[in-house]
Amino acid sequence: MIHIAASYRELSAIAACLVQQRIEAKKDLVLGLPAGRTPLGLYARLVSMHQAGRVDFSGVTTFNLDEYYPMHPQDPRSFRAFTCRHFLDHVNVPADRVYAPDATHPRPEEACAAYELEIARAGGLDLIILGIGRNGHIGFNEPGTAFASRTRLVALTEHTMHVNFGREAASAPRLALSMGVATIMEAAELVLLASGRDKSLIVSRALYGPVTPEVPASALQHHPALTVVVDRAATAATRDQ
Ligand code: GLP
Repeated sequence: MIHIAASYRELSAIAACLVQQRIEAKKDLVLGLPAGRTPLGLYARLVSMHQAGRVDFSGVTTFNLDEYYPMHPQDPRSFRAFTCRHFLDHVNVPADRVYAPDATHPRPEEACAAYELEIARAGGLDLIILGIGRNGHIGFNEPGTAFASRTRLVALTEHTMHVNFGREAASAPRLALSMGVATIMEAAELVLLASGRDKSLIVSRALYGPVTPEVPASALQHHPALTVVVDRAATAATRDQ
């Protein structure tokens, strides 16, 4: 299912309504959360819906998709801090049901195995919200990632370092812990968000191009319950074809 929103505002509203409906249907929803600019409108909208008494997160569990490594959760650059700042600090998800990969663990492979176990113990992910990198990454699954991949330590590409950190790239972590493509694909439902003309080429390749590890988001074509919410600008390349 593809929703083409007239604007980023509408995209965020559509995504927020979908999350609200899923929580209404399942109070103990297990929700996967992305960082990035794209979900900011969704997060703001969910916060205001919560403040207006329209959505109750008291039964919800959240799992962040990824985190830089090594990274302290209090570091303002961390995805943990990002999702708290923009969303979790303002809604009532119980603190003991907020999960993120432990990027302070000295043995990252153990932290990743523990994360997979925590997801399994929560009963698996019901819904993951995804953004998409300009190179087709989902979470931090960079081009070339095996579709069978699970939560693990990954090296970030130069492209991602540049996009995410700009001039600060030299002092930023070059590694991350990320849910794998298989971890993501096992969620019962996925919602992919993309906004803006600069995402339109990769959106078109991900949704209509060959399914290949070179475009990790193309794996989503095989998910049985994928909803794509894009604004018109993000469909520019598709329309030009
Ligand atoms: C980041 C994250 C992804 C995110 C993507 C797009 O690096 N690891 O989870 O979806 O890049 O970010 P943005 O929404 O800012 O374009």
